[in-house]
Amino acid sequence: MVQFTSPQNRALNSFDAGERPSSAGLRPVLHRVTPMDYERIYERYQELQRYVGWTDEDAARVASVAGLAEPFFLPLVEDFYEEIERHPAARQVIKSPEQLARLKATLVNWLRELFSGRYDREYVTRRWRVGWRHVEIGLDQVFTNVALSRLRRGLMRILAENWNRDIPFLLEVRQSLNSLIDLDLAIIEDAYQTEHLERQARSARLATIGQVAGGIAHELRNPLNTLKTSAYFLRHVKSASPEKVGEHLERIERQVAIADRVITTLTEFARQPLPTLSPAPLVECVQEALGVNPAPGNIRVHVDCPADLPRVMVDRAQLSIVLANLIRNAYDAMPEGGELKITGSAADAAVELIVADTGIGIPPENILRIMDPLFSTKTRGIGLGLAITRAILDKHGATVRVRSEPGQGTTFTVSFVRAPQ
Ligand code: HEM
Repeated sequence: MVQFTSPQNRALNSFDAGERPSSAGLRPVLHRVTPMDYERIYERYQELQRYVGWTDEDAARVASVAGLAEPFFLPLVEDFYEEIERHPAARQVIKSPEQLARLKATLVNWLRELFSGRYDREYVTRRWRVGWRHVEIGLDQVFTNVALSRLRRGLMRILAENWNRDIPFLLEVRQSLNSLIDLDLAIIEDAYQTEHLERQARSARLATIGQVAGGIAHELRNPLNTLKTSAYFLRHVKSASPEKVGEHLERIERQVAIADRVITTLTEFARQPLPTLSPAPLVECVQEALGVNPAPGNIRVHVDCPADLPRVMVDRAQLSIVLANLIRNAYDAMPEGGELKITGSAADAAVELIVADTGIGIPPENILRIMDPLFSTKTRGIGLGLAITRAILDKHGATVRVRSEPGQGTTFTVSFVRAPQ
């Protein structure tokens, strides 16, 4: 442990010589931080100063003990890095002895600025930069908090043990110094959080792009492979029968339709325009959707909607996307066959549409996520269909509820806004 009461280590002077420790910290330009950001950061700092009741007297008080504190900076810094050595999660961000030497110089400078009495834009910018840099190197913010707490204890002890003026003034100095350190921490933490959140958002965006790209690749590869095989057949098998040629042309058409659906889903997801609402007959829309999405041979479809079902406020083009997604989702859930039942009923100011299948169902742990973008448990599909459905329904002021029993089936209940009669 470093002795704070024997500060005669003049190695400190080596940090005074020549340039400031710029390689470790005081680079003139902050990456991606614009002059407007500097201004915002400084204004925020001033607001925090007002919050703690910081005045010019506080600044003067702290500066008045700079001479007393300075000889102890190096032992303080040595203690700071000795402690880091004992904590692997903190230590691992320091990569080399050269970097450590640079860091020590940086911290001495940081302490010197703390007692400078000048807390201007440049000061605040450099403080903010500490948090920014710590995110960059992957240092957990808790280590900055505790390291600063340790420095604060050291500084308080130094003041107490070397004080030769009146005690009430010591108490005032301590208070001012504490406020100053708290302000430093607040601004470092602000930077840390801002940068950290930005990074998280960035990596989430990258992960999403990766997931979408992977999904598209997966979805398009099968149709493309089939197209390739059929094209090869048509080009090379000269004596193919007309039936065989017809079969391959049909295959090509089917695969093009599959690829087209992938593209349509993506554009629907990307576009999502605001709906243009008008009264529409729900039963007719359901029938249309079933016409465009016919059931596979092993699935029975049963529609039960009263003829006088009130009309609903919808954008018909968008409703057809919703219905197509719910219907296809039900088909996919019944690979071994089953029944799709679509029921409409009027309820107060709403009209409810229930889409129920007798398929494989959804395990309870997935039920809350099935409408999240890119969530899919199917071997095929990008996982956007139900997300699009929910987004469209949200914009319609409609709600959707899901109930499911694994092995028994799933029921989607959509509650539409009823059109004025
Ligand atoms: C009181 C708390 C701390 C303060 C005031 C502080 C101060 C600073 C400053 C001023 C910089 C330079 C920023 C710039 O590039 O402009 C910096 C960077 C850095 N800090 Fe801290 N730090 C603190 C805690 C820690 C802790 C606990 C560690 C843990 C190992 C750490 C490791 C580093 C590292 C590795 C860098 C990058 C140095 C480089 O450029 O090579 N810091 N810190």
